[in-house]
Parts: sequence; structure tokens; C-alpha cells
Amino acid sequence: MPDALTLPRPDDWHLHLRDGAALAAVLPHTARQFARAVVMPNLSPPVVRLADARAYQARIEAALPPGAAFQPLMTLYLTEATPPEALIEAAESGAVVGVKLYPAGATTNSDSGVREVSAVLPQLEVMAAAGLPLLVHGEVTDPAVDIFDREAVFLERTLGPLLERLPTLRVVLEHITTAAAVRFVDAAGPQLGATITAHHLLATRNDMLVGAIRPHYFCLPVLKRARDREALLEAAARGPSRYFLGTDSAPHAVDKKECPAGCAGSFTAHAALELYAEAFDEVGALDRLADFASRNGPRWYGLPENDGEVTLLREEWAPPAAYPFGAGALRPWRHDKPLRWRFVG
Ligand code: DOR
Ligand code: ZN
Repeated sequence: MPDALTLPRPDDWHLHLRDGAALAAVLPHTARQFARAVVMPNLSPPVVRLADARAYQARIEAALPPGAAFQPLMTLYLTEATPPEALIEAAESGAVVGVKLYPAGATTNSDSGVREVSAVLPQLEVMAAAGLPLLVHGEVTDPAVDIFDREAVFLERTLGPLLERLPTLRVVLEHITTAAAVRFVDAAGPQLGATITAHHLLATRNDMLVGAIRPHYFCLPVLKRARDREALLEAAARGPSRYFLGTDSAPHAVDKKECPAGCAGSFTAHAALELYAEAFDEVGALDRLADFASRNGPRWYGLPENDGEVTLLREEWAPPAAYPFGAGALRPWRHDKPLRWRFVG
């Protein structure tokens, strides 16, 4: 059993950094481990136009710890009112790596999202022509569909027909959670990639609900069954593939999680690589973490791999019960159980 693991410097292909004091609190965690991260645009108000993305990028760069070598990769938030020309301009600028599709009402700050994919077909057509990827929160919001089925139903009802209709549109299916999603991604061609979070590789809905309700395990798409987790582990640990690391680390102040109507989101950036190492270790695939964390993402996005390396040691440590988070506090995921690997830089 190896006790040290060295990888090419990795990237996080799906991350929530928030803004203001929250941004300043969480950014150092990610900048310490990753060279780049795809930054989600679900601020309030959302990052809709190229100018919004450039201004947000400048705020992120200003919040970086001195000397940090970290590049935020910016995204736009797709709305039914987004002019197609704005997406052509964004693609030509080279300043954004993708455009995020939130089904309206699916998750945090998704109210400005898309009600009907048919309403954004002109926008998706220009993105396909410009080679600008669509990043998808893949869940239906139909109240008649059970929350545990919302991803699988989205694939069947929405994403399948969309990929067929626009075969040159490049799509990342974000934070996949089910065996059905793995089958879907496998069956699709190179136009489709997928990110997988550490928490969906490590936990199931039992961790959230058996014996007590544990709000820090509540995220969207919600955690699924053991057999889904097994399918995700198999896909992540495949080596070269279209599956890549995206933490979906999503910080919310502790009083917004531990309350009668808690927000969805698990904060994992404080120990992102440690958590992935634990998951890959569980299935004897530590030697394939480098593909998932450092190679598959750049290959899919057509970006260079990073220079340099990072190292983790097999060493137990416990994160603090809370980190500072602006005027409040942030409860890290796995505050309740020691971590098995330690990132040493
Ligand atoms: O759990 C989640 N939290 N899922 C999302 O899709 C959004 C995120 C957030 O922004 O808090
Ligand atoms: Zn997310």
C-alpha cells in the first residue's frame, strides 16, 4: 500500500467560489491544491454577460493569497434572454470556458435559469458553431418527478434529444450521481464529458439520512444509492476517459445549513484531493487518480496540462469543526470523521 501519492498539478472543473467575504474565505483552499478551476456563475445576480465574467474574474484574482499561482476559468449563466450574439462575443474573447445551463428552480440561485431548453436553442446553436461548451446541471424540476429520479429523467427527456439535435455541441454533464448517468455518458460520443464530485464518490443517501439527518450531506443532485456510488467509482477510476474531477464544493454559512430549511451544498475544498484519494484508495485505483484529476479535464477542454506536481501522504488528520466565513462560520465536509490522506503541497 503506497503511503505517498504524487500527481501532476490538478484542476477542479466545477467549483463555487461565491463573492465578497465568502470568496476571500474559500479561495485559498482551492488555490492551494489546484492550478485552475471552472468557476460557477450562480451568484446573485448571476454572471450573465462577458463584462460580468471579466469583473468577477478580477475580484477573484484580487482575493488570491499573495504569490498564489491559480487561474480561474470563467463561465456564463445561460438565461432565456441571453442574446446569441453575446455568446459569440464571449466565445471569440477566449475569456470564458463554458456556459452553464441551470434548469430554473433546480438548485441554489437558479431562478434566472432555463424553463424550457427549446427556448434557448438559438443560443445553443451559436455555441455549437463557436465550439463553446455547455455545462449542464442535469436534473428536471417537474414537481411530479421524485427528487431521486430527477437526473435520470433529465437524461431521457432533455439531454438525449439535445445531443441528437446538436451533435456538434460540446457538453459537460456536471456532478453525475447515478449508474444511469454513467451508462448515458458511456453511450455518448466525444461531444460529452462528465464531472464527478468527491462526496458522491464517498457517500450515499444513507450517510445523510440513517439514524439522523445530516445537513452537510445535503447537496444537489442529492446523494443516491450504494450501487450508484459503485458505478461512479468505476467510471472515475477508469484511467484515460471523459470523466474528470469537479468538486462542486459549495459553501454555505453554517446557520444556512443547520436550520429548518437548509441550503444544498457540501463544502469540500479544504480537503478536496484528500477526499478523492480516499475514494480511489478504496477501489485500489490510486494509480489512476492522475488521469481523473490532472489529464482527462485538460484533454476534454483542449487546454494544456499543468506544470509541476502535488503530493499527498497517507496520514490521518481532522479538519476543524468550522472555518471562518465572512461574518459567519463554514462547516467543512467530514468534520465528523478523520481524513485518511493529507495534502502536503
Ligand atoms: O448542492 C449544490 N449546491 N448543488 C448545486 O447545484 C449548487 C450548489 C450551490 O451553489 O450551493
Ligand atoms: Zn455546482
